[in-house]
Amino acid sequence: MDSSALQFHRRLSIAPMLDFTDRHERYFLRLLSKHVLLYTEMIVANALLHAAEKFIQRNAEENPVAVQLGGSDPKMLAECAKIVEDAGFDEVNLNCGCPSERVQCGSFGAILMKNKNLVAECVQAMQSQVKIPVTVKTRLGVDDLTSFEFFEDFIDTVHAAGCNTFIIHARTARLRGYSPKENREKPAIQYESVYRLKEERPELNISINGDIKNLEQAKEHLKRVDGVMMGRAVYANPWMLHSADAEIFGKENSAPETREELLELFTPYVEKELAAGCPLSILVKHLFGLFAGLPGGRKYRQILSEGAAQGAGAEILKKAISAVQSAQE
Ligand SMILES: Cc1cc2nc3c(=O)[nH]c(=O)nc-3n(C[C@H](O)[C@H](O)[C@H](O)COP(=O)(O)O)c2cc1C
Repeated sequence: MDSSALQFHRRLSIAPMLDFTDRHERYFLRLLSKHVLLYTEMIVANALLHAAEKFIQRNAEENPVAVQLGGSDPKMLAECAKIVEDAGFDEVNLNCGCPSERVQCGSFGAILMKNKNLVAECVQAMQSQVKIPVTVKTRLGVDDLTSFEFFEDFIDTVHAAGCNTFIIHARTARLRGYSPKENREKPAIQYESVYRLKEERPELNISINGDIKNLEQAKEHLKRVDGVMMGRAVYANPWMLHSADAEIFGKENSAPETREELLELFTPYVEKELAAGCPLSILVKHLFGLFAGLPGGRKYRQILSEGAAQGAGAEILKKAISAVQSAQE
């Protein structure tokens, strides 16, 4: 896919989330929207180089998909970018926003904001190996480096190295004192700084991320920036994507009419993966939020989680659908 085609899909993307956005989740979300851009979980460069087949598995139906890499060694990242491209992915993204201590020990993630020249080197090395876009996901700042000037200088340096697309989680990161979870809730979100970046650097593709709850809010952001990335809200309530193809992309919706039909559509995939040895729990955890807040939603979730714990088969999906239907009668 060429980069202008990919830019269309960036209008709405689903955030990389460790343990959440695995290939099963991506397959599931693709049944809801043909156009949304999906991200993998962060894959650590070292791990990818040691076991590429394990880390970059995908279903052909998932595309467009971006792979997010974690790392800070330009040579390793360049090798990884090539693996990613050869495996048929559409974009390779460098994580400069993750604040977890484990990641800091490896000297990547948000700590990289403190070393803009190294990020530039990484981007340049990756870009030299691939034709697919190399993009960066970052924050507004890190620790006490919170001025707009710091942020803009970081972006300018990385842009000069060949990166045109930035996904900005619109808060700063604190590497000490906050857990990764707290770093996703504090400090306050500052969308204005992302809008300002887009105004001052209109030539860049800017996606905004952080605390965006629904497609209405996404559409508001799209008046100011090129793309919106959503994470937790979609994971908690995946059905919200069913109208994204029309609302965000101006195309016909591709999702099934109902949640029940969606589960029926997903069932052959579950059967296939179970037969290949994947545990049911890994497959159904992504479905828990489908009926969130609706009558029968709790029962539905309970059936799926108990079924997974008891080693049930794909028929558990039918049972869960029946429970919802009887609660709604
Ligand atoms: C469980 C979980 C795992 C995450 N893993 C990653 C990751 O691997 N790479 C990354 O850049 N961000 C990661 N994030 C951060 C999200 O990509 C996103 O920036 C953040 O959740 C804010 O967006 P949201 O409010 O729409 O969820 C993770 C977030 C969550 C909740």
